[in-house]
Amino acid sequence: MASLYKNLIAKKLARTILSNYQHGGLQEIEAAIQSLVKVAPVRKEKIRDSQFTVSLSQLTKCLRGHIVNLDQIQTDGNLDVKIDHDLIHFKTEPAKLAQAVLQDVKVNHINYGYMGRTNGSQKHVCVEFSSPNVAKPFHVGHLRSTIIGNVISNFYEAAGHRVKRINWIGDWGTQFGLVSLGLMRFGDVELLKQDPLLELFNVYVKINQAVAAECGTNSESMSPTYQEGMALFSKLEKGDEHMMTIWRMIRDLSLQELNKMYQRLGVHFTHILSESEYHNRTQEILERLSQKDLLLYDSDGVGYVETEIKGVGRATVVKSDGSSLYLTRDIASALDRQEKFSFDHVHYVVEQGQKAHFIKLVSILQKLGVPWANSSIDDIHVRFGRVNGMSTREGNVVFLRDVLDEARTRVRDTMLKKTSTRASQDDMEKTADVIGVASIILQDLKANRVADYTFSWERMLNLKADSGVFVQYCHARLNSMMTNCGVQPSDDIDISCIVKDDALMNIVLHLARYPEVFEYSLDSLEPHHVVQYLFKLCHFINAAYTSCPVKGEPQDLAQARLFTFECAKQVLQNCLLLLGLKPLDVI
Ligand code: ARG
Repeated sequence: MASLYKNLIAKKLARTILSNYQHGGLQEIEAAIQSLVKVAPVRKEKIRDSQFTVSLSQLTKCLRGHIVNLDQIQTDGNLDVKIDHDLIHFKTEPAKLAQAVLQDVKVNHINYGYMGRTNGSQKHVCVEFSSPNVAKPFHVGHLRSTIIGNVISNFYEAAGHRVKRINWIGDWGTQFGLVSLGLMRFGDVELLKQDPLLELFNVYVKINQAVAAECGTNSESMSPTYQEGMALFSKLEKGDEHMMTIWRMIRDLSLQELNKMYQRLGVHFTHILSESEYHNRTQEILERLSQKDLLLYDSDGVGYVETEIKGVGRATVVKSDGSSLYLTRDIASALDRQEKFSFDHVHYVVEQGQKAHFIKLVSILQKLGVPWANSSIDDIHVRFGRVNGMSTREGNVVFLRDVLDEARTRVRDTMLKKTSTRASQDDMEKTADVIGVASIILQDLKANRVADYTFSWERMLNLKADSGVFVQYCHARLNSMMTNCGVQPSDDIDISCIVKDDALMNIVLHLARYPEVFEYSLDSLEPHHVVQYLFKLCHFINAAYTSCPVKGEPQDLAQARLFTFECAKQVLQNCLLLLGLKPLDVI
């Protein structure tokens, strides 16, 4: 079934029906028609179909019984309608279709694909992502969260919703006791100033090794070093001045480093919230839970809530000494955020290993009457799989910045080898960095997010297919072709010139699908649909680039082709920006 023209045809059919019946909203009818066609957002087969069929009985059902009078469904300028018993066949001439699609891209420009997506109601959405711990290394799970959360925020914003991008910094918890102790025992102030990330990491490793050596196969709480760390944390919880100074230093140094990385990745937040701001809100949470009769205590004085969920059971909310837990701080912050912002949707972009934690959190928030907590858990906890084998030339990876640096070096080496490289020596580093980042991001986003994937430098930097390098080269090459073709763009174009160009019609039909692919990706919170769409668009552009030249062709044909390429470039740019990437004009 041709689902390609779903949007286009749904709009036209909706208008025809509306003009005859004057009931229901246009969008409601459009949505009804669209729902009749199940979309496979990225299909492998060649798409040349320009027909579309709707069953009349299904349509009547979707319009909740409004009768559609067949005699009054008329043909409009772009669309032929034929009625055959229960079936309504729509057909459009390729030239008219091309005209409609390209015009749509041109008129909507940077907003093509995103118009009317709020369906008249703008939502207030919270996307919490990245959320690293500052006394522990930033690991690849945080990188995935950063990339996926940023893109999901971009999706909502493109669709016209209001988004709060929250980074929830893990700056409280027992690890601070241990790292502070590590700094006292092994820390080197000079090294800490020179490279805070490296020194904090070394200290973290050494202190954990000391704990492991002492406790052997017993639980870590048996280790004297661990106990000493816990005692320091307890001092910190009580507000001890000296401990607070160390804590602040670790936090500030780590945040400075994190900010450098976010800048490089092109990621931003609207709010930085910290676990530390909520550790002393425990009493308040306990009171709210007691008011609803939810708080229970075990014989050791540990406070918990019974989730009544099979396999999940109790959710501990307070330790026997009255101190908070990761879960307690999450509850406190969620309630606070809801009071301040009153969200319609909340998404926590966190690795799937924390599934049980989020089931507990959402269950408690439901019991406390937070409205968004009634959405499905899969919608709230946006999970993702693991990355295997991420390593640099030197061996196992420790820091994200090493991976970013290596990506930049590898891209720069490729650029130096290529004779077509036009970027100046000065620009080369910057350009290579942008391409390296794009490659890391697209490798991460190209498959279903819950799937684990294996990191591969070769695949990630493949010039010929489906990588960040590939799409950036496609964009730059298109840009250079357009500026050097010697043809002036015109407003008066006879688009029928391109219908015989299979390669260009493939582009047109692909462009027509962008709105529905975007919508599908947003609804499922699965950026890979847009990524796969982007790769396919680049393949179509590359194919057309060789078979349908612009330079040296008769004026009419050259202009019609150029116009098609311009629209392709627009959608390519829209995809790149949506995915948080910077389109490069010159490489
Ligand atoms: N800082 C946590 C960690 O690294 C992730 C936080 C996820 N978000 C949340 N609201 N619990 O494990």
